[in-house]
Amino acid sequence: MMKKINFVHPKIEIEVTAFTKEQIKMHTLFLTENNIAQIAIVGRSNVGKSSLINALAQRKNLAKTSGTPGKTRSINFYNVHGQSFSLVDLPGYGYARCSQSERRNWAKFVEYYFLESTDLKFVVLLLDCNIKPQKLDCEFVDFAKNFNLNLLPVLTKVDKCKQNEQSQRQEEWRKILNNVRPLLVSSKKNKGLSLLWETMCKINLQS
Ligand code: GTP
Ligand code: MG
Repeated sequence: MMKKINFVHPKIEIEVTAFTKEQIKMHTLFLTENNIAQIAIVGRSNVGKSSLINALAQRKNLAKTSGTPGKTRSINFYNVHGQSFSLVDLPGYGYARCSQSERRNWAKFVEYYFLESTDLKFVVLLLDCNIKPQKLDCEFVDFAKNFNLNLLPVLTKVDKCKQNEQSQRQEEWRKILNNVRPLLVSSKKNKGLSLLWETMCKINLQS
């Protein structure tokens, strides 16, 4: 069983919502000038990115969540009090009801962000603990490799998974991710958040 540790939730506030490349450029420039690094949160549509930000901050509607995939269509930057990084919620990939051209636009938009954000420390890659490794996730792992992005893999929604399934998923991903074993979290049950946050803050200082 995962231990429930007392966790001082970070104070997180929305900084900027970027809908255009110009807005990305302006804000990443602003962050760089102010020596603020970035940690991005990436994953398939509906994997629980926005829910995780809300759970970390212990706020209900800081980041908009929805049962309908494809809710986050913009790049949202969040200020984290007392830390030298901002959190960046990227729109989810692999939204099934998206047209080809919408997908291409997604790729261009997110790629632009990765090109512009020179102070991106690493990417928290969210993976659904209830689903076996998917082609789209593996494609993102390759994409990250090409961009030289460091990944911190995290399995989400572990409350919906038995413990043996959780271990199995960790093992499957460990093989794909060069021996890195994903952390386990549940935003719904507030599990694994403390360790995740601690790890994020630590890697930010190291890298
Ligand atoms: P997009 O913005 O579309 O890319 O989605 P997202 O990755 O931000 O997902 P979001 O946080 O909106 O969550 C999608 C759905 O999963 C919602 O119905 C959430 O309530 C549910 N969900 C998120 N985290 C958890 C979790 O830890 N446990 C369970 N059981 N459900 C979760
Ligand atoms: Mg979202």
